[in-house]
Amino acid sequence: MKPALLPWLAASLLASSAPVLAAPQANAEGAELYARHCADCHQPNGEGLSGIFPPHRGHVGALYAARGTPDGRHYLGQVVLNGLTGPITVKDETYDGNMPAWEGALPPGEIAAVLNFMLLELDPAGLPDDFRPYTAEDIADLSREDLDGQDVRRLRQGLDRFGEQATPTVAKAETPAEDTTPLPLESLFPQAIQVAVQNSGLVTVLPSGEAWPGIEGAHYDALSPDGTRLLVSGFKTGNVYLLDARSGDVEATLPVGGVAQGVKISPDGRLGLAALPDGNRVAVIDMEEGVLIDQIPVGPEPHNSVFSEDGDLAYVTLQGGGAIAVVDMRQLAKRDEIATPGLETPHNLDISADGRRLWIRDFVGRVGVLDLETEEMLKTLAVGNGHGGIDVIPGGAYVATGAIADSTISVIDARDLTLAAEVEVGSGPHGVRASRDGRYLYASITADDTVAVIDTRTLKVVARVPAGGAFPFWIAVPGNP
Ligand code: HEC
Repeated sequence: MKPALLPWLAASLLASSAPVLAAPQANAEGAELYARHCADCHQPNGEGLSGIFPPHRGHVGALYAARGTPDGRHYLGQVVLNGLTGPITVKDETYDGNMPAWEGALPPGEIAAVLNFMLLELDPAGLPDDFRPYTAEDIADLSREDLDGQDVRRLRQGLDRFGEQATPTVAKAETPAEDTTPLPLESLFPQAIQVAVQNSGLVTVLPSGEAWPGIEGAHYDALSPDGTRLLVSGFKTGNVYLLDARSGDVEATLPVGGVAQGVKISPDGRLGLAALPDGNRVAVIDMEEGVLIDQIPVGPEPHNSVFSEDGDLAYVTLQGGGAIAVVDMRQLAKRDEIATPGLETPHNLDISADGRRLWIRDFVGRVGVLDLETEEMLKTLAVGNGHGGIDVIPGGAYVATGAIADSTISVIDARDLTLAAEVEVGSGPHGVRASRDGRYLYASITADDTVAVIDTRTLKVVARVPAGGAFPFWIAVPGNP
């Protein structure tokens, strides 16, 4: 979604750049940082997504101006440094998500630039007369406080005009009846998800339960960044299917020259990749034309891939090679190979939001964390038995992995690289993907034919939803490739 919207952002900046002219330099940097790091959730125009991501436009100036001890200026710096967790109200709408922490991921100067952009560009009218742009030093000072997202929410409650509304958590805790009432299904799926249901040859859309048949062996699936197209590999069929992700119509059936495993779509939506373990290659698909355009030799038994944020590189697990192949997506050629000591059978993988780490799941029951700069395996951990999917949950606190020969989802604390929880979900969890706000984690439970929904705040299963067929294998979620 991001790259497609960038021209739009540029246009909107040009159209409303009056307050920016005073500091063109700082603002160009802030605009770029905002587009890269914030716009996926808060949207390029800063208008947010109703009920999911709060708006910045027409709102953040008032937050900045809010009085309290500490005040709004202090609060905003802490939100970006340390994130925000728990219910808040913005323009009469309740939000109950996770805002990721950026301390460590962005240097103080960049956090200052993005805050200044957000305030000056998205809510200039709301700013008080004594507005002072943030400096790198201001942010470095704020970062001395050791806070987490819940502490930051308490800071927000201390602000005049923003404090009193945000009490639903307390109300809930005092009313036991509410705790036991099942949540409406829609609230657990801020966006519809697509579940590849292998043995039934279909894709099921949840929460609606709509089924798209005719996709033989539906195995791995991947959504384009703009959510309009779905790529699905066919188990044992040698085909990859290209679907219209709104209607479920199959637009193309592509014989890719071997049995395909994991599929992914590039961040600009133009190229699809399918891992072909038998041929030791990845197939490259032109998503516009719906045709196979290349096959890149990568090494023994490629299984799945993940793109770097800019789409220039793809990292491919080599299940037969104990390594990750690094593929140059401009040249369409393998550039490098990184060994994964401690993981002999790298199977599925995901990349951290800052692009610095690969989280790799093997075929037998371990997860490894690979530093992409030093090419060092930072740690490997034992998780559930068998292979499974792995997801860096948006927000950055947790990484979750399935285990097809087990009944648990292992949740790893992404900061200290330890196991945070083993969540009982039912027999044979494989695919795992979180909603793009990081609030809910979905797991396909292959033997129970369900999708389990885990609340990432409590790490408890809050729903089990029928998958609409046998052997739900993988899950595609908009905004979390
Ligand atoms: C993964 C999605 C996501 C990303 C990326 C993200 N945010 Fe947020 N942000 C949220 C959510 C969700 C909330 C509301 C949290 C809650 O409900 O407690 C939020 C809240 C905020 C708030 C507080 C608003 C208020 O009314 O108190 C600010 C400020 C903010 N974000 C700024 C940013 C900036 C700046 C960036 C980029 C550096 C960014 N966000 C990136 C999801 C995101």
